[in-house]
Amino acid sequence: MSATEAPATSVEGRRRLAKRVQLKDKHIITEMMDIAADLPDVIKLGRGDPDLDTPEHIIRAGQAALGAGATHYTHPMGMPELRQAIVDNIAAYGGARYAPEHVVVTPGGQQAMFIIALGLLDPGDELLIPCPGYNPYLQAAELTEAKLVEIRTSIETNFTLTAEMVRAHITPRSKVLILINPGNPTGTVIPPDEVERICALAKERDLIVVSDEIYARIVYDDNKAIPVAALPGMQDRTITLSGVSKAYAMTGWRVGYFAGPPDLMPALAEIHHAFAISTSAVGQHAALAALTGPQDCVEEIRQTFDERRKVLCAGLDELGIPYAEPQGAFYVYAKVAETGVEATEFCRRLLSEGRVMIFPGRIYGDYTDHYARMSLTQTIPRIHEALERMAGVVDAIQRESSGA
Ligand SMILES: Cc1ncc(COP(=O)(O)O)c(C=O)c1O
Repeated sequence: MSATEAPATSVEGRRRLAKRVQLKDKHIITEMMDIAADLPDVIKLGRGDPDLDTPEHIIRAGQAALGAGATHYTHPMGMPELRQAIVDNIAAYGGARYAPEHVVVTPGGQQAMFIIALGLLDPGDELLIPCPGYNPYLQAAELTEAKLVEIRTSIETNFTLTAEMVRAHITPRSKVLILINPGNPTGTVIPPDEVERICALAKERDLIVVSDEIYARIVYDDNKAIPVAALPGMQDRTITLSGVSKAYAMTGWRVGYFAGPPDLMPALAEIHHAFAISTSAVGQHAALAALTGPQDCVEEIRQTFDERRKVLCAGLDELGIPYAEPQGAFYVYAKVAETGVEATEFCRRLLSEGRVMIFPGRIYGDYTDHYARMSLTQTIPRIHEALERMAGVVDAIQRESSGA
């Protein structure tokens, strides 16, 4: 049910599919992938997949593990030594102290979202999520038939949640609050004091917080995305979700994890077991090397994105396209509608006329069609080239609207 899968549109297909999987807005990425397939030399700033290679020592660890017979299922919750490394890694970066038996290793953090949703939400329970936000959380809630409560953020708070925004959406059915910090698609960071206020509210109103910290090590300037479960009284009501995909450029290895309170984890672990049996053994060995090996590769990756971020932002400034201040992750969320056409139309034109792929914010549940996400997943020369192509498309749009 990925967004790139061909949607079932026939009447017969609709009759046979469950209503809960007839998702809205699933066509945009498919359509853009189709357009791109027929074009030469497309600059892809769409997906959140770093162009960087996995660091060499991690690749070697994966190869060695295969040679040594890591070709079997592992413990369903993940290899014990990897779970220990995860626990140590969370604590090393200021997070809560978990026991390895309260950690589950999953095929990417993505699957964890569905396990958590299935494990926590009954139909009608309310899941609060920032919008724009990371769309699979919306899909997970839809599958469970929970009620999705979208908390709209805007440029006024640099697209970050505040406790007051959350409070305004709480009802007696509110059960789970999703925090994604740094945010995707917005690339913004919730300030630590605001995270503390949100957590105080979660305690007051008895919410479970799913804290998606997958980008927490990719932050810029003096921004800091604080680990939620380490805040006083939060460990017992927080599920920390993360993985190695982003910080170690390991998207294709498919290793993520979640850690949570002792009373929730056995049941959630069983759902994971039923879904996957275990996460791939070779991926787990590589993740173990990532977490226990030298960490300078993470800083190199972070710096690479930081340099690209500055280049892209300077280019957008020249084009007169405003954007949310990118403080973390590797995205710039830009108000492309400022050029005179709605964001979805801008993305279509940028692709077909400029051969640059970016994604409209609507994919991520944005309630306007003003913004688009640009991923920093190309080299600086390619970003310059993308900006030049973008300038050409902006120029064409503006000439049309002035009737020239
Ligand atoms: C906010 C966020 N969380 C989790 C994930 C899942 O990543 P993975 O499944 O590769 O661990 C992503 C991927 O883009 C993401 O953006």
